[in-house]
Amino acid sequence: MSQSPASRDRILSGMRPTGRLHLGHYHGVLRNWVDLQASHDCFFFVADWHALTTAYENREVISQSVWDMVVDWLATGVNPNLATLFIQSRVMEHAELHLLLSMIAPLGWLERVPTYKDQIAELRDRDLATYGFLGYPVLQSADILIYGASGVPVGEDQVSHVELTRELARRFNHLFGREPGFEDKAESAISKMGKKQARLYRSLRRRYQEAGDTDALGEGRALLESQQNLTIADRARLVGYLDGGGRNVLSEPEALLTHSPRMPGLDGRKMSKSYGNTLSLRESDADIDRKIRTMPTDPARVRRIDPGEPEKCPVFDLHKVYADDATRAWVENGCRSAGIGCLDCKKPLIEAMQAEVAPIRERAAALEADPGHVQQIISDGCDRARGVARETMTEVRAAIGLDYRQR
Ligand code: TRP
Ligand code: SF4
Repeated sequence: MSQSPASRDRILSGMRPTGRLHLGHYHGVLRNWVDLQASHDCFFFVADWHALTTAYENREVISQSVWDMVVDWLATGVNPNLATLFIQSRVMEHAELHLLLSMIAPLGWLERVPTYKDQIAELRDRDLATYGFLGYPVLQSADILIYGASGVPVGEDQVSHVELTRELARRFNHLFGREPGFEDKAESAISKMGKKQARLYRSLRRRYQEAGDTDALGEGRALLESQQNLTIADRARLVGYLDGGGRNVLSEPEALLTHSPRMPGLDGRKMSKSYGNTLSLRESDADIDRKIRTMPTDPARVRRIDPGEPEKCPVFDLHKVYADDATRAWVENGCRSAGIGCLDCKKPLIEAMQAEVAPIRERAAALEADPGHVQQIISDGCDRARGVARETMTEVRAAIGLDYRQR
């Protein structure tokens, strides 16, 4: 596939609709999306089929969460004029590419993906011994490859899925990325290099392909670079023939690790729905007040006059996210000297969190009052996504040799 600058800069990420979004999603993911959309061609989507792989017995949560999630994205500043927002299951081409990739996805690769065994162990109440669950990262690969995304913002746990995507793309290109007669054309190009150089090329190719010698790969590329009598097409063929890659139909993405600090929850552990320690993006002022006031503090501060240690207090973890330097210093000194009480300490935190959540909550309410508008945004996004996905599928089918369907 030819790479226009726009597609080289394409970013894609998906989120499973598994419940209400909370401040952990905001600090860990959405703020990053909002930053990225300004400078990249971003595609963000609701991974509802992925949610189905684990929640096929409890689908209500998916249908309830899909639109809530889109509203939360928009309310936090994800902008449909800058990014393409869509729902996975409304772009059927993902399913077709998933199917085709599944033909060449070695079982061993899938069984070795670390999330596979981890999730089965973690979600012991669900039967995940399904074909669909094993194929989870193949579907994710299809999501990524169908848009030719070069960057995939993900958390640590998803890096292995992006790595699998790269391997599947490479395997696809290796198996199908050859023009008809590629080998013959490559061989005849070799003979144009002259006997001595041709022999050198062949031996470097063998050293790389049979022994994995990457120095030989570099030398081979340099050799081709120095050949004056090769056409551009022949040189491109010989580069592909050297590394065994063939023509690139699907391009390999990079994982973009989100470097946001870990968002602490109400109990000091990472904020996560499964710990029940979250604050939602639509939390009322009163609930924020109540939840922070009742947060545990350093147990050493039994009485107001007992000094404490902020590093042992989950409230201070949240201050690290919200407080400016002056407030932070005030907390540290006041806590260690018992100059302030815990409720004093919590007050600026409560105010900062209320100030952050209020505009999100208000924008969400306005969006909920106008569901037609939100549906239109998604409908437009699905159309745009489908257009790109269809182009890729035309290339993919042609590469596999399935284009007889289109005649
Ligand atoms: N598996 C991702 C998660 O659980 C969601 C997802 C599905 C995704 N398809 C994707 C993320 C493609 C990035 C790219 O968070
Ligand atoms: Fe925690 Fe603040 Fe109380 Fe210290 S003063 S224990 S940091 S809540």
